[in-house]
Amino acid sequence: MKTVVITGSARGFGLEMLKIFRRYNFNCVICDVNDNEIENAYKLLNEMKYDGIVLKYHCDVTKKESLIKMIDDVINNTKTIDIWINNAGVNQSDKYIWELDENTINKLIDIDLKGTIISSNAIIPYMLKQGFGAIYNVEGHGSNDAKIPKLTLYGTAKRGVTYFTESLAKELMDKKILVGKITPGIMLTNFVKTSLGDGEKIEMTEKNKRIYNILGDYPETIAKYIVPKVINNCYTNVKFAWLTNTRAFKRFIKALFVKRDIFK
Ligand SMILES: NC(=O)c1ccc[n+]([C@@H]2O[C@H](COP(=O)([O-])OP(=O)(O)OC[C@H]3O[C@@H](n4cnc5c(N)ncnc54)[C@H](O)[C@@H]3O)[C@@H](O)[C@H]2O)c1
Repeated sequence: MKTVVITGSARGFGLEMLKIFRRYNFNCVICDVNDNEIENAYKLLNEMKYDGIVLKYHCDVTKKESLIKMIDDVINNTKTIDIWINNAGVNQSDKYIWELDENTINKLIDIDLKGTIISSNAIIPYMLKQGFGAIYNVEGHGSNDAKIPKLTLYGTAKRGVTYFTESLAKELMDKKILVGKITPGIMLTNFVKTSLGDGEKIEMTEKNKRIYNILGDYPETIAKYIVPKVINNCYTNVKFAWLTNTRAFKRFIKALFVKRDIFK
């Protein structure tokens, strides 16, 4: 039986991906820092009657010690970790760079960029030892080099995640460990409502709401599309994207004729 670890998987896109992995009879590992959400996710995944076990950890992706403790325990239980998805991420508040405090800057870079690097640094030696594995990193705004004011900090982190992923794929080219990018697009999750995980409330402007209504989706829709591709993948340096230019173009055309309200 195969095992998947997804960071930041107590809710949102991470949890929706775990639900799909569960349906494919994977052992599913919840890794998060929000204890209430961890318990909810654990209960929910256990209520789904499939093969494979569910494991839960309070594990902070910014701390290698915390990651190693979790990895050791997972391996004790499941013998292997087949797929690792670096998904934990937080949004920034709706502010220009000069309006952000130092703590916010450090925390976002620690989680969104360094968290992906530290998690990869922690899991790769185990995958090298077992002789196989796959690592996927979740991209976001900025990954494609787009720039939007008041999203500079987040975009900088995700641009870094993209560079890191592509370069890591090269480093692992001959090592039987696949590396890939997951590009979910725009999802209606907690992420869009609060900064830094469960921090300051983000007020959504009317313009942003219009964009969400055209391009946004529920995380379960995107997870359903992405996870089978991850499971069946046998190439490295791949990118699995939901919101492609073609899909976005079709959405804008459709919006001329059909009104959509995903906030309902
Ligand atoms: N929602 C969107 O529109 C959107 C768009 C593109 C990319 N993304 C990316 O998708 C990923 C998932 O986001 P989401 O929308 O599901 O948000 P979410 O807030 O619903 O989920 C993120 C999870 O990460 C956890 N987390 C935060 N800090 C952590 C840490 N230090 N260690 C472990 N877990 C931690 C949170 O507790 C939370 O459960 C993020 O990387 C985000 O940047 C989101």
